[in-house]
Amino acid sequence: MRTQVAIIGAGPAGLLLAQLLHQRGIESVVLEARNREYIEGRVRAGVLEHQSVEILRAAGAGERMLREGLPHEGIFLHFNGRNHRIDFMDLTGKTVMIYGQQEVVRDLIAARLAAQQPLYFNVDNVALSDFSTDHPRVRYQVDGREQTLECDFIAGCDGFHGVCRPSIPAADLTVYERVYPFAWLGVLAEAPPASHELVYANDSRGFALLSMRSSTVSRLYLQCRPDEDLREWPDERVWSELRARLGSQLATGPVLQKSVTPMRSFVTEPMSSGRLFLAGDAAHIVPPTGAKGMNLAIADVQILSTALDSFYRSGRRDALRAYSATCLDRVWKVQRFSWWMTALLHHFDTDNAFDKRRQLAELEYIVSSRAAAQTLAENYVGLPLSH
Ligand code: PHB
Repeated sequence: MRTQVAIIGAGPAGLLLAQLLHQRGIESVVLEARNREYIEGRVRAGVLEHQSVEILRAAGAGERMLREGLPHEGIFLHFNGRNHRIDFMDLTGKTVMIYGQQEVVRDLIAARLAAQQPLYFNVDNVALSDFSTDHPRVRYQVDGREQTLECDFIAGCDGFHGVCRPSIPAADLTVYERVYPFAWLGVLAEAPPASHELVYANDSRGFALLSMRSSTVSRLYLQCRPDEDLREWPDERVWSELRARLGSQLATGPVLQKSVTPMRSFVTEPMSSGRLFLAGDAAHIVPPTGAKGMNLAIADVQILSTALDSFYRSGRRDALRAYSATCLDRVWKVQRFSWWMTALLHHFDTDNAFDKRRQLAELEYIVSSRAAAQTLAENYVGLPLSH
């Protein structure tokens, strides 16, 4: 089998890239290790930057998002027992959209199938080769049968634990990493959200976040230990801890899902090797505090699709050569913001009394200075793609 671009991974990065290429008349084949039910069902992030909304809409995959998503004009910061609003619309003229990552994935799969373009699930033993030449290959198995896909380019969109990044010789990559000494316990609950906008809380008991998926489904998080045992968190304990940290009367309801998410900042440089291009979590991980993971993936593939389009239309390679540097310039700014939001809102065991007072002073500063609030807001709604 032959195609122009072999795309490894059917998360938001891989599926959106496939759609953007299809719009530009570039063929691709998408290979996914998991089954369709799994990737459509896994609960992930839920905030789309202003620009991500535009990219999905322009890709022809935004119809349901615009109908069912919740546009938000701000967030609340909760500390010292009070809520303080950060008004994005006033500070930046922009909004964000609350829409679950798995809904984005469902919409992109629907678009792929409607376009009758190849998308294979349950693909095993993916192996990349020859991407330092003009004729890369991807070998894989479906239903126990060996297949070889010849292509012009490989897009590595298979996440942090995928095979693409480790296919690049380790000596060619530099990794920058920080692992945080805490995690998030996340619950999805059939309960109306207690606030119409997200609430990020820095409480003496630790961080908490109130988010949502709809007017009837809440998404809630608590800072916890990285090795937290979910058996120690019956639903009643989750609710009472959320109430204590968020300082509000939460409506409770059936818990649909509960999980622990580790927190890490990670960047690999460069984001390409020969004709292999990494995008999304395969290249970088952010802690979820800034809600940036899916947005970075969307920005990467927007840049990659433009570079591939320029190659196929005019034979130019400069945009492809610049892909890694173009992405990384923005990736590092977003890393900085995600680290900063994390440091601002969480409790670190190593913090002393001075650090705690400094953290509260920073929060007070943000809610009392328009310049400081604007710094948070312009990052949260999303930095521009080009500068
Ligand atoms: C979510 O709704 O899942 C969510 C929202 C904001 C974050 C992280 C996760 O910062």
